Amino acid sequence: MGHDAHRHERDKGLRAKLHWLFQIRQFWQSDVNREVLEMAAPTAGEHAVDIGAGMGPATVLAARRGARVTAVDPSRFMRTILSIRRPFQRARSRITVADGVAESLPVADGSVDVLWTVNAIHHWVDLEAAFDELARVLAPGGRIVLMDEDFTHPDHSLHASHHDHEAETTIVDVDVIAASLTGLGLAATGERTVAAGVPVKLIRATKPT
Ligand SMILES: C[S@@+](CC[C@H](N)C(=O)[O-])C[C@H]1O[C@@H](n2cnc3c(N)ncnc32)[C@H](O)[C@@H]1O
Repeated sequence: MGHDAHRHERDKGLRAKLHWLFQIRQFWQSDVNREVLEMAAPTAGEHAVDIGAGMGPATVLAARRGARVTAVDPSRFMRTILSIRRPFQRARSRITVADGVAESLPVADGSVDVLWTVNAIHHWVDLEAAFDELARVLAPGGRIVLMDEDFTHPDHSLHASHHDHEAETTIVDVDVIAASLTGLGLAATGERTVAAGVPVKLIRATKPT
């Protein structure tokens, strides 16, 4: 299956790209991404994977911390922007921009110390395939942080306009996701909480050593 087939209809076309550009500040630098990085805590020399990296707000932070980051995204538009951003980073040699989807990650078995995804799970079309991939690529002792802003929460500033976005995308149920990851042998928890002042859905997991 080609990567295009993995994308939801609403991701395609100029309208969606313009929508992203209107939020450009949030995508270049985002407090939620900062918070995820604090949780994932990539360290120097570790191999990190940013799934659905977009313009790379988490990727550049992780590379600054000394991790080798594979930034995976199926969107040529996003990969182009991150590839333009990359040369301006002092840590650019530690950043690799790769075409891929959560359901088919372009990294070797057991090669990843830490991976995360921010505001991308609702785009994943085949959650079970994606979870198999997370379990496959993670090294023993490896860590996972999956976070999606919770627009269904009335306290989210975009609740009024975005509360039903999962009607058009994949439903993110933290308990179901944590149970799926547990079923794959990971130690996983899911919760609805607040990160950087924003209601979020958060799943964290580790692979036993
Ligand atoms: C809302 S953006 C978030 C980007 C970035 N993580 C951030 O927080 O700024 C969602 C990203 O997920 C990517 N995406 C779409 N389908 C995907 C899939 N199946 N697997 C991984 N990423 C996907 C999109 O191309 C887009 O860049």
